Amino acid sequence: MKNEKLHYQWYPGHMTKARRQMQEDIRLIDLVIELVDARIPQSSRNPDIDDLGKQKARLILLNKADLADEKYNRLWMEEFRYKGFHALEVNSKSGQGLKAIQGIVREACKEKITHDRRRGIMNRPIRAMVVGIPNVGKSTFINSYAGRACTKTGNKPGVTKGKQWIRLHKDLELLDTPGILWPKFEDQAVGLRLAMIGSIRDEIIDVTELALKVIDFLNNDYPLALSKRYDIPECHDNYEALKMICQNRRCFLKGAELNLSRAAGLIVDDLRNGRLGRITIDRMDRIT
Ligand code: G4P
Repeated sequence: MKNEKLHYQWYPGHMTKARRQMQEDIRLIDLVIELVDARIPQSSRNPDIDDLGKQKARLILLNKADLADEKYNRLWMEEFRYKGFHALEVNSKSGQGLKAIQGIVREACKEKITHDRRRGIMNRPIRAMVVGIPNVGKSTFINSYAGRACTKTGNKPGVTKGKQWIRLHKDLELLDTPGILWPKFEDQAVGLRLAMIGSIRDEIIDVTELALKVIDFLNNDYPLALSKRYDIPECHDNYEALKMICQNRRCFLKGAELNLSRAAGLIVDDLRNGRLGRITIDRMDRIT
């Protein structure tokens, strides 16, 4: 990466504003629905959320589960449940997994429902808010889960002035603007993982360097992925592998000179879009 202090360049004004907004919004809700990227379930979490949402019921959605390794999806679900969260694997793009949410929301908010009942309050809908780092799929999730059938309930004078709620069914209302948290990437390893899945603007990344890291990662964790996709022999010299892919994909500059940065871009793009197979980058044993 070109700059080790990337986090200071991440729209600090927006960050502060978004965080303040979230602090306000969180007071209005019962349940925090936190989206993480299934390929990096830990690195795509912002640790502040545990503090911001500590009085609330919590549901973690392992989104983009379709792009991640099924075996690790299961392990991460176990890990989150072990830590006391409710958790679910979903693909917000196709809608897969979303049906199970209603039941799990009731389970997560059991205490609140019982508490309401004891006070004679029946059928008050659960209010939820979707949070997560940029690009994790918050808007896709809201659109997909809310669908077209939902109704916007509009402002509620005195209580939620200026807030739009989406009534999903009689038991659940969703704040229609998601809470945006920024990833923490003081840790270079976390920064790298975020870059690999495309959660850091590409302008601040050297794509050839990134592709070499991707090759290195794949050679270690998914040793057949590169040879399968690019029809090259297994090669543990990352730079040589990049050159072979470059040749194989006919990425040339004028003459026969290799256009390594173009090949690097292809590799990174293939990884991000699942063309190198279902891949999980975060593993419990190397998460700090
Ligand atoms: P955000 O609000 O959190 O910033 O994220 P957003 O919904 O805009 O989603 C970011 C990208 O992730 C979108 O792709 C979206 O389609 C994709 N996405 C969201 N959820 C899933 C999922 O569960 N699986 C897969 N495979 N992709 C998902 P895009 O390329 O920016 O847009 P588009 O071309 O798909 O419309």
